[in-house]
Amino acid sequence: MRHFRAPRRWRSALPLLAVLLIGLTACSGPFPQSTLEPKGDFAETVDHVFMVTVYLAVGVFILVEGVLLWTIFKFRGKPGDAEPKQIHGSTVVEVIWTIIPAVVLAVVAVPTVQAIFKTAEVPTVSADGKAPLKIEVIGHQWWWEFRYPELGITTANEIHVPLNRTVDLRMKSVDVIHSFWVPQFAGKRDIFPNRETRIWFTPNTTGEFPGACAEFCGEEHGRMNFYLMVDSPEDFASWTTRRQADSTLDNFGFPKPAVAPVAPVPATPGTTRPAAAADTVAVDPQLAEGRKLAVSKGCTGCHSFNAMNPTKGVIGPNLSGIGTRKMIAAGWLPNTDENMKRWLQHARGVKPGVAMVVPPISDSEAAALIAYLRTKR
Ligand code: CUA
Repeated sequence: MRHFRAPRRWRSALPLLAVLLIGLTACSGPFPQSTLEPKGDFAETVDHVFMVTVYLAVGVFILVEGVLLWTIFKFRGKPGDAEPKQIHGSTVVEVIWTIIPAVVLAVVAVPTVQAIFKTAEVPTVSADGKAPLKIEVIGHQWWWEFRYPELGITTANEIHVPLNRTVDLRMKSVDVIHSFWVPQFAGKRDIFPNRETRIWFTPNTTGEFPGACAEFCGEEHGRMNFYLMVDSPEDFASWTTRRQADSTLDNFGFPKPAVAPVAPVPATPGTTRPAAAADTVAVDPQLAEGRKLAVSKGCTGCHSFNAMNPTKGVIGPNLSGIGTRKMIAAGWLPNTDENMKRWLQHARGVKPGVAMVVPPISDSEAAALIAYLRTKR
């Protein structure tokens, strides 16, 4: 059987071909953190400026390389040729190659300046006709706090926004300089301890999009991530309802202790007194143990399980809905039971700089805590 052998002159091109193929497979997506895949108006505006620049650059490349190649072949020297005419210092040539780049830059400046003005101002009306949704972004070493002042909600490391609604982010830091960046929606924006910065965007595609801190802010800067969840209006309403349901809980997200009525309330015709919510956690022994451990292991000293009353437990991320979040440890680990256990038992092993200090937790204690955390949906 004859083996295929590439002709010798091809063989030198094979490594180049391999590199090209590898390069092309690297381009085959998905693109979770690419600015080249914009999913909102702000990012599309920036992408438009980028593409105009790329097309102009390609034009310049073809023109310059074309003239170069034409010159190489047309004016190729032959043995015995006389010295060619020297044009060093030619005013005509100098003027031409000064004017052309200036014109190219002037052309690029038009969409650039337009984009600067367009993205500088937060729109007053959303694409869906409503007012933009205000969200306060607070940077911490090394996690993200998100507050929805109009909805009363506080959450962390997972920001939910409704499709086609402009979000108006007002950002500050409680410690050092961080930088908020969700590549598919907007450019980077630094956030400072003593000054509010703002950014806005309108998501046009539902999905889960990773974001990151883009300014070196200390040991765990590289693990200061978050997810932006673009929900359909129905899903966003459902998420909002679940967070707001925390208003029936105490500061730590535990059911408020039942208060016995001082005197029997006379029944008013046509009304019924609401039945006390059943405390399913207290009934299940493992869940009850998990809730007890959340206090005895010190979790509630830093964390609140309540999205609606963030006056206690504000040192660490708010854990309302932690049971169904995509990630834990500030966007670092997928939210599986296995990772949760690893995080509870060896937080410093996962993120050496983390502020969380947890006393030793046995396997059965971890299981009870995780079972309890999973009830926070
Ligand atoms: Cu926060 Cu880097």
